[in-house]
Amino acid sequence: MLETPFTYRDNIYHVEDAPLDDIAKKAGTPCYVYSANAILSRYKAYDRAFGNLPHRVCYAVKANHNLAILSMLARAGAGFDIVSGGELYKVLRAGAGPANVVFSGVGKTAAEVEYALEQGIHSFNCESEAELALIDALAGRLGKKARIALRVNPDVDAETHPYISTGLKEHKFGIDIQEVEEIYQRARWHSNLILDSVSCHIGSQLLNPEPLVAALDRMLSLIGRLRAKGIAIEYLDLGGGLGVPYRPTENAPSIADYITRIRNKVEGRNVTLMVEPGRSLVAEAGILLSRVLYRKKNGNKEFIIVDAAMNDLIRPALYRAHHEILPVKRDPSRGTVTADVVGPVCESGDFLAKDREIANVFPGDLVAICTAGAYGAVLSSNYNARTRAAEVMAAGNGFRIVRRRESYEDLVRLEKV
Ligand code: LLP
Repeated sequence: MLETPFTYRDNIYHVEDAPLDDIAKKAGTPCYVYSANAILSRYKAYDRAFGNLPHRVCYAVKANHNLAILSMLARAGAGFDIVSGGELYKVLRAGAGPANVVFSGVGKTAAEVEYALEQGIHSFNCESEAELALIDALAGRLGKKARIALRVNPDVDAETHPYISTGLKEHKFGIDIQEVEEIYQRARWHSNLILDSVSCHIGSQLLNPEPLVAALDRMLSLIGRLRAKGIAIEYLDLGGGLGVPYRPTENAPSIADYITRIRNKVEGRNVTLMVEPGRSLVAEAGILLSRVLYRKKNGNKEFIIVDAAMNDLIRPALYRAHHEILPVKRDPSRGTVTADVVGPVCESGDFLAKDREIANVFPGDLVAICTAGAYGAVLSSNYNARTRAAEVMAAGNGFRIVRRRESYEDLVRLEKV
């Protein structure tokens, strides 16, 4: 298990060697705080576990597209899994080359495909025959060849939250594994496509790696069948999905164990194995730092009102996701309270925790909303005309603001009367 970068020292919660109350003083609240070393050590755990097997670790940019994170991962040698032209733009702006970029997603527009072809990305993970035809035509017009993987739906149950499970027939994602061989055959008529890859992604936040291993088995047999038909598959992209513990009682498989498991199955098969981890690289490396504004009681119900809200972190409202909430200053003599932790947004759905026993915190106290590095800041919005939170990157005892808090002026910058 990789160590958490967040620890108490003298009862003050720290990120690496920096006290979080210092960060709140300089960056204000709410703000996201990330640990550079936690992200890098997780990336390296992936990379190292592959050993000599030809591989690419393509960070799923959707989990957190802060430029500081992208540039750090690019320098460490990561590739990138993107799902929009905007993500490609950010990856390139972060200084990454296009050669290790794969473009996933069920609804790529012609403009996005053209942009990716012009930049020369590694490949497209395609989700329909119509998309193949479009990429072929655009590649032809630009005088380029496009490397294609069909995103296969291996029909295994990811056993995760229904909103983030993707690998079953009933989902909009991928192409049925029964139909995919014929589509590869037909796709051979597209002269601007290079058909040497297959891909899949069965879901996210998998705490049990067995479905991922089952998907790999199905993909390896598919590769055998395709090769027998003369379609020389060289790349297998297994997608992302490895989960992280959001609760102290949860156990997630370690990155090293998971990769070792799949590496052993792929060794000797003559394929380059690709993975697209998002959450498992950044979730545990980040928290959302917030300040308590008020305490309030309605009947028997206790509320802790903080300055972070659903527009900053929507996961609790959207998925009923659990995020631990810890006091930045720990004082066991204060005891605990069972309360709803809520934000200032005008929605009953605006909660960060419900009926949660947490430290007895009071107005002015700081709290850390944990495991918020993935699908946190990227899903934030300006709802209620709230300015988006600042983002801070910490390393050792230093830290810097890598995204400034939005200003009121930012709220109107793109609008006209
Ligand atoms: N590759 C593809 C094609 C994906 O669709 C995803 C995630 C990933 C890779 C990265 O998966 P990860 O390693 O992060 O599990 N907003 C939700 C999660 C949505 C995941 C969507 N796809 C949440 O907050 O839990």
